Amino acid sequence: MRLLVCGGAGFIGSNFVRTRVREHGDEVTVLDKLTYAGRRENLQDVAEDAGFRFVHGAIEHAESVAEAMEGVEAVVNFAAETHVDRSIAEPDAFVRTNAMGTYVLLEGAQQRGLRFVQISTDEVYGSIEQGTFTESSALRPSSPYSATKAGADLLVQSYVHTFGLPAAICRGSNNYGPYQYPEKLIPLMVLNALHGDPLPVYGDGMQVRNWLHVSDFASAIGRVLEAGVAGEVYNVGGPDECPNLEIVRRIIELAGADESLLEYVRDRPGHDRRYSLSSEKVRGLGWEPRVRLHEGLDRTFSWYRENAWWWEPIRSGEYREYYQRQYGRSLAP
Ligand code: NAD
Ligand code: DAU
Repeated sequence: MRLLVCGGAGFIGSNFVRTRVREHGDEVTVLDKLTYAGRRENLQDVAEDAGFRFVHGAIEHAESVAEAMEGVEAVVNFAAETHVDRSIAEPDAFVRTNAMGTYVLLEGAQQRGLRFVQISTDEVYGSIEQGTFTESSALRPSSPYSATKAGADLLVQSYVHTFGLPAAICRGSNNYGPYQYPEKLIPLMVLNALHGDPLPVYGDGMQVRNWLHVSDFASAIGRVLEAGVAGEVYNVGGPDECPNLEIVRRIIELAGADESLLEYVRDRPGHDRRYSLSSEKVRGLGWEPRVRLHEGLDRTFSWYRENAWWWEPIRSGEYREYYQRQYGRSLAP
């Protein structure tokens, strides 16, 4: 396939690109704005592969989109502002990228008759104390981040309904694995534990997330791209649910650190208590998750311990200022 992967220099996008280039022999163009979360380093091992092309630009800029869409058959859109805490502090970029950017991509795809897969999130359904969300559950987003992602999903569905755009939506649960920016729970706790920094647990730490290894999300998106039905939504949930505190405790154990590093801090405003997805529909396309949380967490911990070249520049750059603003304290040097 000749694919355009928007946001392909980020965490999930780069893992997806690697799989498509290496295992499927796809020709891939990446369109990425290279925000704080997007890095060329994430793609350095595929950058020289035949058929790989990189376009530096924003999805909300029609000219960059036109350049990137030249010669492609299908678009997979990962590009987004993705961190809930940043969306609470500064929602502006979330509206521009997640809502406006998706609209510009849909226009481009519709004019050229391209297939489209929108990467969305379980957060569009809001929190669920018991049971699981299916694809027909109501959208009740809680944060500016999830509200803009829900808005993007509705735009995609409007383009299917009104213009017949062959588009599908994948709603994933919490991903983890290599190349995840350390503002997110697992890599933040791993790096803090390795450096002896306190591990900031929001509220009581009993919020539950439905953990999905990034390689499993990438394979599910591949199945939707190949066999998904236009106009349909596919939930992709991980095989395990786990409270945050249990994850943090396991990381402390893996790092050989002391429990006293654990620090309860002010809760996130509007914090969703639990996410849980039913993935029956995407399993119907022949997908199943391969990585259980206990194994994936150990592998992820080892990846961060062994790849300081990847995170050292992050921990010494913009991330330090972000950390100070968000947590009111500085990181260890
Ligand atoms: P990320 O923050 O690691 O990467 C986002 C990428 O998008 C970066 O490369 C960034 O440079 C790029 N980008 C941001 N704004 C852009 C713009 N205006 N134009 C072009 N590129 C832009 O995010 P991620 O965790 O890899 O998430 C990827 C997608 O998957 C997002 O759409 C997110 O909503 C969705 N998702 C994430 C998770 C998760 O747990 N991380 C779960 C389900 C769904
Ligand atoms: O569910 C899918 C979503 O998962 C994606 O759509 C988002 O892009 C992605 O960021 C993620 O959102 P969360 O808010 O669930 O992930 P985060 O890693 O920020 O937080 C996970 C849980 O850990 C959440 O309950 C908040 C808690 N937490 C997080 C941080 C950063 C802490 O207790 N302390 C922290 O310092």
